[in-house]
Amino acid sequence: MIKMKIEKFKIELYDEIVELWKKAGIELGSSDSIDEITRVLNRNPDLFLIGKAQEKIIAVVIGAFDGRRGYVHHFAVDPNYQKIGFGKTIMDALIEQFRKMNIHKVHLFIEKSNRSVVEFYINLGWDVREDLIMMSYVPDKKLYKRHL
Ligand SMILES: CC(C)(COP(=O)(O)OP(=O)(O)OC[C@H]1O[C@@H](n2cnc3c(N)ncnc32)[C@H](O)[C@@H]1OP(=O)(O)O)[C@@H](O)C(=O)NCCC(=O)NCCS
Repeated sequence: MIKMKIEKFKIELYDEIVELWKKAGIELGSSDSIDEITRVLNRNPDLFLIGKAQEKIIAVVIGAFDGRRGYVHHFAVDPNYQKIGFGKTIMDALIEQFRKMNIHKVHLFIEKSNRSVVEFYINLGWDVREDLIMMSYVPDKKLYKRHL
């Protein structure tokens, strides 16, 4: 049986996680440049986790805290290692970190084109919010790009 070890992400591993995100079909935008990933890591050193097996990174999740709510971004497991429990394992580890930090509630966003993953989160105890509408605002249109 393959074992996965959970570690905190280090910026030296940037290229490797970008490869993993691409492999898993995560869309990368201007917030995924090395500078921006460094920024989110520096703010959330205990929440940005990777899973390693057979000497490579097979899972990654960016956990974040804005001082009020927790967030989950860019959660992915290498397609060659999916559906054998590693997603649940790394998400459980992240939730444990949120718990240790006394964070009251955690949010995540799912693209409608990726609806099938809702079932995965429901199995892990997450609730779909029917009472909210998500809105976004871009403060500086020169900074934000949908694609990296
Ligand atoms: C979502 C993702 C991280 C799940 O990782 P995983 O390692 O395959 O998940 P696990 O093997 O831990 O699955 C845990 C349980 O959820 C189920 N499950 C996994 N993916 C599922 C899916 N897409 N839909 C429904 N159920 C799913 C598993 O069958 C398992 O159920 P069981 O415990 O009853 O056997 C992985 O599918 C992935 O990287 N997807 C592409 C990127 C993505 O969509 N990320 C989420 C962005 S919001």
